Amino acid sequence: MAETKTATLTLDGKTYELPVLSPTSGPDVLDIRKLYSQAGVFTYDPGFTSTASCDSTITYIDGDKGELQHRGYPIDQLASQSHYLEVCYLLLYGELPTKAELEKFETTITRHTMIHEQMHYFFRGFRRDSHPMATMVGVVGAMSAFYHDSTDVNDPRQREIASHRLIAKMPTIAAMAYKYSIGQPFVYPRNDLDYAANFIHMCFAVPAEEYKVDPILARAMDRIFTLHADHEQNASTSTVRLASSSGANPFACIAAGIACLWGPAHGGANQACLEMLKEIGTVDRIPEFIARAKDKNDPFRLMGFGHRVYKNMDPRATVMKESADEVLELLGVENNPLLQVAKELEKIALSDPYFIEKKLFPNVDFYSGIILEAMGFPTSMFTPIFALSRTVGWISQWKEQLGDPQMKIGRPRQLYLGEGLRDYTPIDER
Ligand code: SDX
Repeated sequence: MAETKTATLTLDGKTYELPVLSPTSGPDVLDIRKLYSQAGVFTYDPGFTSTASCDSTITYIDGDKGELQHRGYPIDQLASQSHYLEVCYLLLYGELPTKAELEKFETTITRHTMIHEQMHYFFRGFRRDSHPMATMVGVVGAMSAFYHDSTDVNDPRQREIASHRLIAKMPTIAAMAYKYSIGQPFVYPRNDLDYAANFIHMCFAVPAEEYKVDPILARAMDRIFTLHADHEQNASTSTVRLASSSGANPFACIAAGIACLWGPAHGGANQACLEMLKEIGTVDRIPEFIARAKDKNDPFRLMGFGHRVYKNMDPRATVMKESADEVLELLGVENNPLLQVAKELEKIALSDPYFIEKKLFPNVDFYSGIILEAMGFPTSMFTPIFALSRTVGWISQWKEQLGDPQMKIGRPRQLYLGEGLRDYTPIDER
């Protein structure tokens, strides 16, 4: 990081020089690492709206322009010209692979898609009606009980094996969570299918008959995986980084990321968005929900709208919207009432002064749910699919942090507003 200039802080008559670090792209950064030792003060930024928690070379987002790049490549080019496993390679290793490198990587991932047979029993410990995200948190965390030979975070080779295992096994675990929830037998992965087709097959095939994966649906599934792969220091990625900073094993760190992603303000928004569209039901009820979203006394928010960083259209939503049109036309449900409500809601919201002023645009979760529902997934599977897709982002950021010689345990401080020092009062005096 180039140190180009300094900022001056004056406090209680003293002056402090803070280095200003310049990025490849994006805003300059005030380096406050020595602030507490020099000035005896903390900075205060709950929600980290103005805080860079790390330096990274993986993903860049320009919220004002609505731009997203992975290792410098724009997301719309990756979504239209690349495919998920190639994007996984790019995120993990920093460069697009040669033909031979890609072939080797894809073979490695394909050969790691089965999970330890003993792990099948974990699923049986859950109620059938458990949310698949609960199952995924449990089973992924339990991987550290099975894959001891890839839990030493100080061994680069073990880190790489753990990365491959997680990318390879997440579709299998997500599909098993789904099958278990509907009382159908698990379907094993197949090495003759590509990553997305394999996932669809594991979800929708049954032993009783042949199941042919529609290549257009597989392509749409692959694009959904790509659009969710990584997104800089979002809440779940920051959770993975913080867990990893204590030296926790990769499976525990990814389980923590899954747990955080589940929230409706984050990855749970795709499920919440589709449930909201179903609740709206028809175009004529949209104004009622827009009014609720604007009402300060109503906690209701338009799911799939707004973003901490994007103050313009989420570029992923733009690509997702094209995919939604394609998939629904293929399935002959282009007149899907939910899609009609979604398109009308988007149009009305984008012309409403409240949303314009607050720069609330559709985000990645707005259209993904419509595609997934059209493909036959229940809403409870939307966030597991987001988690499956984001695993490569979590693991790439985890790997980057572990490779940083400056890494130390994450330990934020606080603004203490509690009671001052006081003596214990015996109970008969209270
Ligand atoms: C993801 O960080 C990432 O990168 C996440 C993600 C990723 O790939 O990892 O992109 C994935 O999580 C996308 C976001 C999915 N969440 C939703 O769609 C849930 C609905 N959206 C909101 O909950 C909200 O927009 C957030 C949580 C996404 C962002 O909230 P912020 O940035 O903390 O903004 P805020 O809550 O401070 O809201 C600013 C104002 C508020 O009004 P005022 O208090 O200023 O009057 O905008 C309003 C909010 O009330 N507002 C909304 C709104 N979102 C914000 N009002 C109505 N509907 C909404 N959706």
